Amino acid sequence: MSTPLELIKKRRTQAVHDIVEKGYLKTRIYICMSTGGLAAGAQEVYDVFKFAIEDGSLKDVYLSPKGCPGRCSLDPLVEVIMPGKIPIKYQKVTPDRARGIIERHLKKGEVIKDWQIQ
Ligand code: FES
Repeated sequence: MSTPLELIKKRRTQAVHDIVEKGYLKTRIYICMSTGGLAAGAQEVYDVFKFAIEDGSLKDVYLSPKGCPGRCSLDPLVEVIMPGKIPIKYQKVTPDRARGIIERHLKKGEVIKDWQIQ
């Protein structure tokens, strides 16, 4: 039987391995899924990205929920991190905006300044 500290170390090692294996070095999308995010519709936004990955229209992307970064009035928040580029954070993302981020930013590399956090 493992001690709590051994379990934590084992889980940390697995988490680091998963991050590297699942795409830390590729494009990453993080969506605030804390209380404010969920209340503002983050689950529907998350599902748009998730379905795009599952149906193959969005490739080589790592999608993950994240905790509250303290900008709750701007939820749902979506952060796009592409290798070698400055991370971009989008505010008040709706499912329609999520589809726009997929088509314009993730597929064509266009940062959508009107939706970006200033
Ligand atoms: S709950 Fe999303 S930014 Fe605070």
